[in-house]
Amino acid sequence: MTYPIHILTLFPEYFDSPLSESIIKRAVAADLVDFTITNIRDFATDKHKTADDVPYGGGAGMVMKAEPLVAALEAAKAVADVPRIYLTPQGEPLTQALAQELSEGPGMILTCGHYEGVDQRVRDGWIDREVSIGDFVLTGGEPAALILLDSVVRLLPGVLGNAESIEDESFQTPMLEYPHYTRPREFRGMSVPDVLVSGHHAKIDEWRREQSLKRTQERRPDLLDEDS
Ligand code: ADE
Repeated sequence: MTYPIHILTLFPEYFDSPLSESIIKRAVAADLVDFTITNIRDFATDKHKTADDVPYGGGAGMVMKAEPLVAALEAAKAVADVPRIYLTPQGEPLTQALAQELSEGPGMILTCGHYEGVDQRVRDGWIDREVSIGDFVLTGGEPAALILLDSVVRLLPGVLGNAESIEDESFQTPMLEYPHYTRPREFRGMSVPDVLVSGHHAKIDEWRREQSLKRTQERRPDLLDEDS
């Protein structure tokens, strides 16, 4: 099954290289995910292809116009009737649980805003869900869309090989990962913990669990709260 991701943006080239590298590239080649990138400006009908305008009520910045964006959203929905998501700092926080839910299907239409955002009527009438990637403001929705889609695509069945297995990683269980080391055993006077070269698998597992817990307690104690 191919998971469709349709991105609506004023800057389609933004996505060129991130979608053609590494694991995402491989997932596309294996038909596990299919990307369609639409330039919202292509749906503007005036001769200047206007996609934004000044805000009613005055103030700084521009607002993305409803007509081209709604036309783009309707065209995308006609191809694949999947949830329409708008990226905004006002949305529900992106968590591993949300990435998991979205990865279970049927796909998504990602709408990237720019300037001061989009006309509120688009959000009221043509958006199913709003997602924030964190409590900070980006220049536009594009980097947020990339982060959201990356977190979803890697969870699609068949995308990660065994070597990259998602089994005991951070947030899948609500713990941060233990430290990782590779060769050489000595690097500038710093050595790999002895237990990792002991060959004693039960001891290694125990050490890794302890390290995960210690890191989580030190860095993200909120993850260990029962009610969060
Ligand atoms: N657009 C601008 N900032 C954003 C954020 N933090 N999350 C999602 N979309 C955004």
